[in-house]
Amino acid sequence: MDVRFLGHSCFELSDGDTTVLIDPFLTGNPKAAIGAEDAAATTILLTHGHGDHYGDTVAIAKRTGAPVVAIVELAHELGEEGLDVHDPNLGGTVKFDWGSVKLVPAWHTSTTPKGTVNTPAGLVIHFGDTVVYHLGDTCVFSDMARVGKRTPIDVALMCIGGHYTMDRSDAVDAAELIGAKTVIPCHYNTFPPIETDAEAFKSDVESATRSDVVVLEPGESHSA
Ligand code: NI
Ligand code: MN
Repeated sequence: MDVRFLGHSCFELSDGDTTVLIDPFLTGNPKAAIGAEDAAATTILLTHGHGDHYGDTVAIAKRTGAPVVAIVELAHELGEEGLDVHDPNLGGTVKFDWGSVKLVPAWHTSTTPKGTVNTPAGLVIHFGDTVVYHLGDTCVFSDMARVGKRTPIDVALMCIGGHYTMDRSDAVDAAELIGAKTVIPCHYNTFPPIETDAEAFKSDVESATRSDVVVLEPGESHSA
């Protein structure tokens, strides 16, 4: 399975047949690797309703017919747009023929695009035999250690940019708590407030933990 970084918090998981697209913010994203019109999706997963995550969800879902998984209030709003939605809440799992996704906590704020305040989430994705944890936007919190306790995490997609989320120093603690085989940083260098040094994050994590850090430029992939 390939994990392709499309810029900011957007990733594509693909085995060649199935493409899972996460947080497709492409239009207006200065680091987007592709345009929304070129995004493929079998299923779309959202961590929360902020514009830098929700992004092009409606256009891509309408064009591809991909169902969208989002926390209940956000999912219901997307359902009003005529999309095929799944509406779990925290702790809930949605199953597909390619695997499953479970919503786990993330400490952040969120509103839906229409302005309803709702709770953000992280995503634990089982894609075939590979487990991917997209943290969403969050600060570090000790219950991150629970996420990978029963199901070891192969790849953690981790915000490190600071200001709106944890910074690269707190993200070292997050990497330690999660214990993933591989950590891929995201949500940095898209805008000035979230500029940070991903290579310094890599060396700090690799000296403090057993995780490997793979720094991807937008458009690059990691094989997991
Ligand atoms: Ni956010
Ligand atoms: Mn964000």
